[in-house]
Amino acid sequence: MKKLFAVIGDPIKHSMSPAMHNDLFSFYQIDANYLSFQVKNENLQDAAKGLRAIGAGGFNVTVPHKTAIIPFLDEVDELAASIGAVNTVVNENGKLKGFNTDGLGFLKGLQAYMPSTAGKRILIIGAGGASRAIYFTLAKEEPETIDIANRTVEKAQSLINECPYPVSSSALTLAEAETMLGEYDLVVQTTLIGMEPKISEQPLDLNKIKQQSHVCDIIYNPLKTKFLREAEARGANVQNGIDMFVYQGALAFEKWTGIFPEIKRMRENVLKQLGGTSC
Ligand code: ATR
Repeated sequence: MKKLFAVIGDPIKHSMSPAMHNDLFSFYQIDANYLSFQVKNENLQDAAKGLRAIGAGGFNVTVPHKTAIIPFLDEVDELAASIGAVNTVVNENGKLKGFNTDGLGFLKGLQAYMPSTAGKRILIIGAGGASRAIYFTLAKEEPETIDIANRTVEKAQSLINECPYPVSSSALTLAEAETMLGEYDLVVQTTLIGMEPKISEQPLDLNKIKQQSHVCDIIYNPLKTKFLREAEARGANVQNGIDMFVYQGALAFEKWTGIFPEIKRMRENVLKQLGGTSC
């Protein structure tokens, strides 16, 4: 019998997950179908119950439900619980188990460029949900420091206070981060600045960026944000958000099927959906 997988969110129309996962199901000859469902906040519990009741193999959860889904699950793994957000659910014989593959997806994508973050000096820009997943995940990798810069510096400080893993961190204003940029080996941009409608903006000036430092933007549309273009022009190595998206999907696919899928194939699928060819 065909297995159902899904992504639930609101809005959901532009999700690239269905095409990416359906391509993998057909490639690995797994009799399954992945669909997207727009679910309003007030229907989230019913949606979780419904997916459990019909025997869905699992589902992804996206904005705005990643935190709100937690009370409707039977179990949540330690990292997802500490992040306070679930993006992947596995239905194990009627038990819904929640995981977070966003932070690990970021880390796996990064490792192709920076095999280890141990001993590195890291700056994360932004203090929202994506920042939290990445910060808590990197905190476990024994970096020398992870500073967080945010427009609202108190939010950066709260993130630092809430991190359950020991790591040396300071909360910075965006202006402070600009002056300290030369100290970081890795800079990760997690805000929405650089995406439509803010494609001509960037969260901070990159004048002081270190040559050969690695600069990531979690945005993948556009493929190269203004932030990445400027970082590249100043001699940094740059990476867009495609790898994070692809690897979070690959880790979810592995949880559902036991197969760690071909990343190259997933990347090509996503690039095709975005209408681009390279970055
Ligand atoms: P997500 O969950 O996708 O990370 P979010 O929780 O809405 O999104 O977080 C958005 C991040 O972008 C926050 O760090 C936010 O800064 P504030 O905490 O000060 O709101 C940041 N952000 C959004 N618009 C911004 C802007 N115009 N300038 C600077 N930072 C901005």
